[in-house]
Order: sequence, then C-alpha cells, then structure tokens
Amino acid sequence: MNSIEAIRTRASIKKFTDQPVSKDLIEQCLDVAVWAPNHRMTEPWRFCVLIEESRDRLIEIIASQLKSAGHHESHFVNQLVTSLTNSVETDRLKNKIKSSPVLIVVYSLPGNNPVVTKENFAASCAAIQNLLLAAHHFGLGTIWRTAEYYDGPKVKEFLGIPEQAEFAGAIHMGYSNQSQTERKRTSYAKVTNWL
Ligand SMILES: Cc1cc2nc3c(=O)[nH]c(=O)nc-3n(C[C@H](O)[C@H](O)[C@H](O)COP(=O)(O)O)c2cc1C
Repeated sequence: MNSIEAIRTRASIKKFTDQPVSKDLIEQCLDVAVWAPNHRMTEPWRFCVLIEESRDRLIEIIASQLKSAGHHESHFVNQLVTSLTNSVETDRLKNKIKSSPVLIVVYSLPGNNPVVTKENFAASCAAIQNLLLAAHHFGLGTIWRTAEYYDGPKVKEFLGIPEQAEFAGAIHMGYSNQSQTERKRTSYAKVTNWL
C-alpha cells in the first residue's frame, strides 16, 4: 500500500476482535510514528503501551482519580463520576478501555515557552497520524480517542509521564471486527483560498 492509498483508506475502527497484536508489530508502528516532523528536533512524543492486565490497572486508577477530583468540565465524565459506584457505569469505562487488545496513550512534552509547547503538541499529533497510518499498512485497525481523565495526575503517575506533559490521544489498536464505514470529507476546494 502506498502512502496516498493508506491516507485515503484509513478509517476509525470501534470494534476489534480479541486476537492479540504481536509486540513486534506494535514496535514497527511506533518506529514509524517517531519519523514525524518536529521543530528544533525536540522529539516531544511519549508513548505508553497497555496490553492485557495493565488495562485493568488503568481502569482502577481512572476510577479512583475521577472520584477524588471533584467537578469535571465534561458532562459525560461528571455523570460517570456520580455513578461510578454503580457497577453498570464502571462496566462502561471498562468496555471503553478494553475495547481493543492494545491501547497506546500518547503525551506531548512541554517546551520552555508556550510557542514551543504548541509546536511540540502539533508534532506529537503528527506522530499519532503516522502511527495510525502504519497500523493501517500492517492490517490493523485504530481509533484516536480523547478523554480528560488521561490528563489527570494519578493516570500520569501510573503511566510514568511527567505531570506537565499534555495528553494528545488514546489510540485503540487491534484487528478490525466491523465492516467498512462510509467516510465523508468536504472537498479541499471549499476550504482553500488561492491567492
Ligand atoms: C483529536 C481527536 C480526538 C478524537 N476523539 C474521539 C473520541 O473521543 N471518540 C471517538 O469515537 N472518536 C474520536 N476521534 C475520531 C474521529 O471521530 C474520527 O477520526 C472522525 O469521525 C473521522 O472518521 P475517520 O477517522 O474514519 O476518517 C477523534 C479524532 C481526533 C483527531
């Protein structure tokens, strides 16, 4: 598959089979991710790979962090917190985290000023896109997800990430268990000014 074809045919996948992904394949994807452009060669991306039981530990940490943190910006998270004692809600969190055999949480390190921090975040997002495309090339499905609890102190401590690092994405990865979804894009012609 060439790069243009990979970009055009990649699609977010929400349902995965239970088939594990080999460590070698995960490493090959990460090896492609780090070839993203980055200003000043700061290489700001940090990856945390969770497979098997480490995902259960993450669920426990998220639940305890949400309970101790008070009010959240996200309505969904507030609902989740109020009802975390309810086993159905805990199952919801569990189902999300364990929806794929591999979860790669990506963070971006800050720079020594806001401009560099912003550039670093952009570079980390470029690394994520590389990761998604590499996975697609190797026959794996992915979805880039976000949730505010990944930016919390307990989760970062568990993942070995400095508190100042910024969460960029939670990448679910595995073999697809769904049919091709219809994807749409507005033509570039509508969003481009030629001067
Ligand atoms: C920064 C970012 C955050 C995202 N967060 C979520 C998310 O939390 N949940 C979700 O279902 N999809 C999430 N997505 C995936 C988008 O919904 C998906 O890319 C979009 O629907 C386009 O579909 P495609 O990836 O198949 O082209 C996110 C994508 C990006 C780039």
